[in-house]
Amino acid sequence: MSILFNDVFLRACRKEAVPFTPVWFMRQAGRYQSEYRAIREHYSFFEISHHPDVCAKVTRLPVEKLGVDAAILFADIMTPLKARGLKVEIVEGVGPVFSHPIRTGADFSHWKPLESASDVPYVLETIQLLHQQLNVPLIGFAGAPFTLASYLIEGGPSKNYHRTKGFMYAHPEDWAALMEDLAEMTLNYLHAQIRCGAQAVQVFDSWVGALSAEDYHRYLAPTMQRIFSELKKTHAVSLYFAAGAGHLLPEWNQLPVDVLSFDWRTSFADLERLGIEKAVQGNLDPSLLLAPLPLLKERAKRLLEERNGRPGYIFNLGHGIFPEVSEDKLLALTQFVHEYSRRLRSDQ
Ligand code: CP3
Repeated sequence: MSILFNDVFLRACRKEAVPFTPVWFMRQAGRYQSEYRAIREHYSFFEISHHPDVCAKVTRLPVEKLGVDAAILFADIMTPLKARGLKVEIVEGVGPVFSHPIRTGADFSHWKPLESASDVPYVLETIQLLHQQLNVPLIGFAGAPFTLASYLIEGGPSKNYHRTKGFMYAHPEDWAALMEDLAEMTLNYLHAQIRCGAQAVQVFDSWVGALSAEDYHRYLAPTMQRIFSELKKTHAVSLYFAAGAGHLLPEWNQLPVDVLSFDWRTSFADLERLGIEKAVQGNLDPSLLLAPLPLLKERAKRLLEERNGRPGYIFNLGHGIFPEVSEDKLLALTQFVHEYSRRLRSDQ
């Protein structure tokens, strides 16, 4: 690791003092980048993962182009499921699609467990390469059990998750077994990523906001408690993400996780009101990336001011970048957050 290593992101995750607000963007590697699109001319989505040199390059692109303070491994939440032999495809403009959705416990009882060293050696090799190449921390990641189950049960993306929740209500024992299988996989996968050099791990529970706080507590909290307690025993910091899940923050606050995400439907004042003292990341509405630059900067400025010196803040979007976003605007936003947060700090 270089002596010029920028660890501001890790320090913010640990609520330590930082000279400026660290920035990274949800889904920061992807089709909005011309270099990424050029690489995709030659490799399919999953082929990129299977070529560690190409995959490391794609992971580094946002760090090199935008100057963000963390890299996130280029892979998908479906990567470990595909590595276990499940038939999943990523359909452009749609998302992951399973040809054989789960209907009963018998549909997954025979799945073989994930053994990261032999099932995803290419992912681990990419992380080892990045550990040599990066001068910012690498965030490893995995999908959370609920969000993975939603794709497995619905067969693809969903608006209301009726089938997923129906399965959970109607077959609580099968649901518990599925959560256990996916938690086991997630832990095996994240532990392997940490051993190979990921300094942080983010668990993506993108769609869990579909559950009420009561159902989260009953059907999911024990699984998430287990995942984050196990991760707590490692040296990596842990982050938890969902969109539209402000109502779950009090539940999340009970988990042994370092950083909670919040989106634009939740404010710093809400966090205060709810007594959230953990480090947080968020919450800019990604739609603002289509706004004129002055409006975008105005909203970012307001966010940094509303934060009001609260320790442990990472600037991010409330959800992912999308293909229509301009790279120039993201670069300007990153620079603005770095500069303005430095200024605020020296004003205090
Ligand atoms: O820099 C990065 O963030 C890249 C790594 C990354 C990808 N997917 C690459 C990807 C990460 C962290 C993810 C996580 C992911 N994948 C989530 C959780 C984050 C979130 O947005 O809520 C989810 C729900 C998925 C499932 C998924 N995979 C979706 C919804 C899509 C988009 C489909 C589309 O075409 O709009 C994918 C495909 C995908 N994953 C792409 C990328 C760069 C685009 C695929 C392409 O290159 O054609």
